[in-house]
Amino acid sequence: MLIIGHRGASELAPENTLKSIQRALDDGVEMIEIDVSICQSGEAVVMHNIKVDKTTNGSGYIKNLPLKEIRELDAGEGEKVPLLQEVIDLIDSRCPLNIEIKGRGSAQEVSRILENEIRKGRSWDDFMVSSFDHFELQEFGKLRQEVRISPIICGLPLGLASFTDGIKAWSLNMNMENVCREIVEDAHKKGLKVLIFTVNDPDELAYVSEIGVDGVFTNNKFRLLGIK
Ligand code: G3P
Ligand code: MG
Repeated sequence: MLIIGHRGASELAPENTLKSIQRALDDGVEMIEIDVSICQSGEAVVMHNIKVDKTTNGSGYIKNLPLKEIRELDAGEGEKVPLLQEVIDLIDSRCPLNIEIKGRGSAQEVSRILENEIRKGRSWDDFMVSSFDHFELQEFGKLRQEVRISPIICGLPLGLASFTDGIKAWSLNMNMENVCREIVEDAHKKGLKVLIFTVNDPDELAYVSEIGVDGVFTNNKFRLLGIK
């Protein structure tokens, strides 16, 4: 079972901050997931919501705020909102990074950053790109065929894993509440891994293991494994 740090180690440090990423690295997760959006001045910043209100002391839509203003915000415990580049530099290939792209217009910039990382000597296997926005993900897949890509859903589609047919996906990522054996088996028939969010306790882990899931996103690896 692949254990993926969700927004870093978001139960133990402010989500999607360098502190949270460092905590996930220290905890020894096998992959780290972050959420990425493009701000008004064009940089790829790490935040889950489309507005800065929930996780910082500021307000407004990321797409309307320049990086300079975003960098002045407190993302919790004095942490700044990181750039995607800073997360890549901090992880430094110690585990793969799952970049979840939020919203339109992010494929191009994320592709540019990853291409630059490859030029510096990193491996394509250091990255996986996912999204709920399957149009943007498809766009990214066309730009960078070398990177693993993963469409995300929340819910159980009538066609099970067939929604992935137009995308050369590596995995199907979906929510804990709707996953069932049928969709896991259908995804496996298509050669896809199945990764589930957000799984935080041993009971949930036992259930997803039993139905054949390949990996879980967790906010706290130790609570997931029942370690105090
Ligand atoms: O990528 C898995 C999970 O992070 C998707 O949901 O809303 O936490 O980004 P969300
Ligand atoms: Mg996410």
